[in-house]
Amino acid sequence: MQLKKGNGSYVYDQDNKKYLDFTSGIAVTSLGHCHPEVVAALQKQSDCIWHTSNLFEIQQQEQLALTLVKHTQLDLAFFCNSGAEANEAAIKLAKKFTKKNKIITFNDSFHGRTFGSMSATGQQKIKEGYGPLVSTFLHLPWNDIEQLKKQADNDTAAIMMEVIQGEGGIKIADLDFYKEVQEICEKNDILLVIDEVQTGIGRTGKRYAYEHFGLDPDIITLAKGLGNGFPIGAMLGKRKLAEAFGPGSHGTTFGGNPLACAVSQSVLNIIFHDEFLNEVERKGKNFKEQLEKHLIKFPSVKEIRGEGLLIGIECENAGELIINLEKKGLLTVPAGEHVIRLLPPLNVTDEELSLALNTIQRAFNNKYETVT
Ligand SMILES: Cc1ncc(COP(=O)(O)O)c(C=O)c1O
Repeated sequence: MQLKKGNGSYVYDQDNKKYLDFTSGIAVTSLGHCHPEVVAALQKQSDCIWHTSNLFEIQQQEQLALTLVKHTQLDLAFFCNSGAEANEAAIKLAKKFTKKNKIITFNDSFHGRTFGSMSATGQQKIKEGYGPLVSTFLHLPWNDIEQLKKQADNDTAAIMMEVIQGEGGIKIADLDFYKEVQEICEKNDILLVIDEVQTGIGRTGKRYAYEHFGLDPDIITLAKGLGNGFPIGAMLGKRKLAEAFGPGSHGTTFGGNPLACAVSQSVLNIIFHDEFLNEVERKGKNFKEQLEKHLIKFPSVKEIRGEGLLIGIECENAGELIINLEKKGLLTVPAGEHVIRLLPPLNVTDEELSLALNTIQRAFNNKYETVT
């Protein structure tokens, strides 16, 4: 199937069939397709200047950096073009700043597909066939405090994690686990790196998902929803780290160019407001409750979990159901082994959420009938 056109929460295929898009291009088009303010920002900047390189001051980049770090304990931003690149930057910075070698990441995590970020990723299937990988990373079981206590030591540069594992199946750890991670980092001078590529920019109802868990990261990485489909990534960090990343130590040609930054600024101008974020939280909570109410009767449904508008339905036959939902006009994405991932645009309406709920119920009813 080819998607030819998009408008708000809807996309249209080559035969002009209409779908409600609950993939958002895998957590990217958070304001829906062709949002007028984002289109206008793109058009306006494209008539002015697209690219200058970082040899010159870029006002749009400075403004975007300030918007991103506002309301956080972070001070500085580095811009790039994707989530994997943002994580590469974080890995390099953590090692250079701490002069230590080991970075702890977690089983079932996903951090990207460049050599470094793939090595960081805690999923064997992503790495198969690429030979020996970067030896820096130690993968530990997710949500296992004892293992973490045992393995975090003097040679540990960073603990790097998604606070909600996205690709791995919308997995949230216990609150105690996050608390322990923070304490271990503080006690051992370990940097806390949070990969917010999927969870950031309002997806979970907060600017960044780490805010749900009372964490104080040294570095966070962003991409996906940051540009609503225009490629842009970013690494935000605390001021102390800047000394390790002076001129010439890391960089990228395209990162943070005026065009990408102008588009991204228009996205944040809409999302980074408490009223908007509270709405994401409200809609996500209602939707999850409705899903629980209507689906829990199916024995094949194991759990419905998530935060804000990042929601997973863990169930048998997730793959088959996703195909069935598509036939019924609702696009969703798989995650992990058995999870239907729902990623509506953050400005989705209550009517669209009801329509999705109704479609999901019909798909489960069909499946249930064929099983019995
Ligand atoms: C948590 C997380 N980190 C990193 C990445 C990689 O981002 P990109 O595909 O932009 O390189 C992804 C992509 O799915 C992701 O979900």
